[in-house]
Amino acid sequence: MQRIAIVDPIDATREPLRNLLLGIDSVWLEAECARYEFFPDVIQQSSPDVAIVSLDADRAKAIQLVTQIAADSPDLPILVVSSDHQSILQALQRGAKFFLTQPVVLEELLAALRRVPPRGATAAFGKETAAATKSCQVIAVLGSRGGIGCTTVAVNLGCDLARHETNNVALVDLDLALGDADVVLDPSPDHTLADVAMNIERLDMTFLRRSLVRHEGTGLSLLAHPVQMQDIGLIHEEHLQRVLNLLKASYTHLILDLSKGLTPTDLMALRIADIILLVAQLELSSIRNVVRMLLTLGAEEGLTDKIRIVMNRVGADNVEGEISLQKAEETIGKPIFWQIPNDARAVISARNNGVPLILHAPKSKAHLSILGLADALSPKDKDHNGPPAKEKPKKKAGWFR
Ligand SMILES: Nc1ncnc2c1ncn2[C@@H]1O[C@H](COP(=O)(O)OP(=O)(O)OP(=O)(O)O)[C@@H](O)[C@H]1O
Ligand SMILES: [Mg+2]
Repeated sequence: MQRIAIVDPIDATREPLRNLLLGIDSVWLEAECARYEFFPDVIQQSSPDVAIVSLDADRAKAIQLVTQIAADSPDLPILVVSSDHQSILQALQRGAKFFLTQPVVLEELLAALRRVPPRGATAAFGKETAAATKSCQVIAVLGSRGGIGCTTVAVNLGCDLARHETNNVALVDLDLALGDADVVLDPSPDHTLADVAMNIERLDMTFLRRSLVRHEGTGLSLLAHPVQMQDIGLIHEEHLQRVLNLLKASYTHLILDLSKGLTPTDLMALRIADIILLVAQLELSSIRNVVRMLLTLGAEEGLTDKIRIVMNRVGADNVEGEISLQKAEETIGKPIFWQIPNDARAVISARNNGVPLILHAPKSKAHLSILGLADALSPKDKDHNGPPAKEKPKKKAGWFR
């Protein structure tokens, strides 16, 4: 992650540059300044990896600033931007290392930033900024039918991951119409994904961070679904792509609770995810849908490999003729990655109290299982494809046929 500070007194050029930077995954916009004279202090306080100086507002002042930065912080790479070649040349002679010509286009900006060598990470940043230097794991939770346990898994997994001091976890409720992650966590959000979408043009990290509500007991942050159902139409997949890319710069884990509609926003979330937890139960309609979903998602390159089957409510004792794990695996043709036991007492009472399992019933079977899932998904096990399934899938024809 490159932390960048920019100075450009001209709004008309600063804002597009800022928007371009905000859209780049590997960039953290550390500071934005509209006055040349304040920029040395901004650099002192924010200690960026790259300083971008736009020269055109007052070329003489800007060149003087470049000279000063080069003298004060000789190891700080300076990238200058101008529409005037003569000024660029002068800035390069005074200590700038990189340049771009106006108007800045994304490809050239990316190429210039790629050429900038990494600067040593500093320890003087808070937890959120520190997260920006780590990579973010995006976990999408997708259900094979309604009421299968997606929100239960998403919320409790998020809370369990957030228990580690070094993790900074956000849950995005992408069940835009009927989502209820806010009920499970009971945090009363002031803003929702609809506010973010409505302000997408002027979106920055400050606004975005303010749109998430933090669950006091666990530290999990929530970006809630729209309150008004008619606002769903405001949220397009490009908005979501931008929002998730920005959140990836601030959080170590993003959990995405998807709808059951395979909507364009769900599909975007699946593309961005590193891991897709496909939640199922040992019953016919769920298993059938898993097979259908694997077929459908298999049509798009790269999605199936990310899918891990999570079998929820295993051992529901009142279900006569529950399908065995072995049969389920044979039918699905993919191992079961994780099993969560049926634990109605703990899960339903936690839900009704608006308290996650880690606080309501930490020793319950369901919670211990989700805790294990959180550990299994931690990066050391990222490539772990095999399930803790006792029964290996057999190669014979699928039971489901
Ligand atoms: N392991 C479990 N043991 C017992 N009950 C569970 C378990 N997992 C989920 N439930 C219960 O199942 C119901 C549905 O769970 P949940 O809301 O998490 O599913 P969902 O897939 O998100 O549903 P929706 O389709 O409404 O989004 C809830 O009442 C929840 O308490
Ligand atoms: Mg749900």
